[in-house]
Amino acid sequence: MIYLGGEAEVIIGDIVSKKRKPKRYRIKEIDEILRFRRTKTESKLISMARKVGVPTPIILDVEGDTIVMERIYGIPVKECMSEEISREIGRMVAKLHSANIVHGDITPMNMILSAGKIYFVDFGLAFIDNRIEAKGVDVHVYFESLKAGFENWENLKKAFIEGYLELGSEEVIKRAEEIEERGRYVERRLK
Ligand SMILES: Nc1ncnc2c1ncn2[C@@H]1O[C@H](COP(=O)(O)OP(=O)(O)O)[C@@H](O)[C@H]1O
Ligand SMILES: [Mg+2]
Repeated sequence: MIYLGGEAEVIIGDIVSKKRKPKRYRIKEIDEILRFRRTKTESKLISMARKVGVPTPIILDVEGDTIVMERIYGIPVKECMSEEISREIGRMVAKLHSANIVHGDITPMNMILSAGKIYFVDFGLAFIDNRIEAKGVDVHVYFESLKAGFENWENLKKAFIEGYLELGSEEVIKRAEEIEERGRYVERRLK
């Protein structure tokens, strides 16, 4: 099975291989440096998340623009979302944030339910940052993906917040709500 995203080509078999695709508009040498660097960063953050207790695939190899990793057999969170799952996602995101890992793309497409655990599989946009703002944006992206994908998004959001607050800081949740409010303000002005 091959998955072709905007950034990467992901081949899913007994193991998973994720290769960052060249960007033709960039100078070849620079493009290679960027792709190699981002590949390294992604693999490091996948391992780091696992070390702080957030389920992620085991990295088997990293070479150039390609990460080879364990395949997670399970159901994409998109297909099995529930309040219970959203609450667990909240706990896991708080754990990432307590290690200052900002995921950058927390959406139901990037998480897999396997053996009762939520695996985070895509750290392609992740970075290290200790600021409330970065973490608030991280949570905000998740809230937006809930609104876009599920009718009962309000309950899913509430469950996430409950899970997040078991370990995470209320300031981050407040900031996520503020960012939402800023967005609505801009929307109104643009009408
Ligand atoms: N280790 C893995 N095990 C199983 N499926 C995976 C794994 N890694 C990625 N996938 C699947 O491949 C898709 C694309 O991988 P992802 O890392 O999200 O690439 P992209 O950065 O292009 O979005 C994911 O949405 C997920 O369904
Ligand atoms: Mg993805």
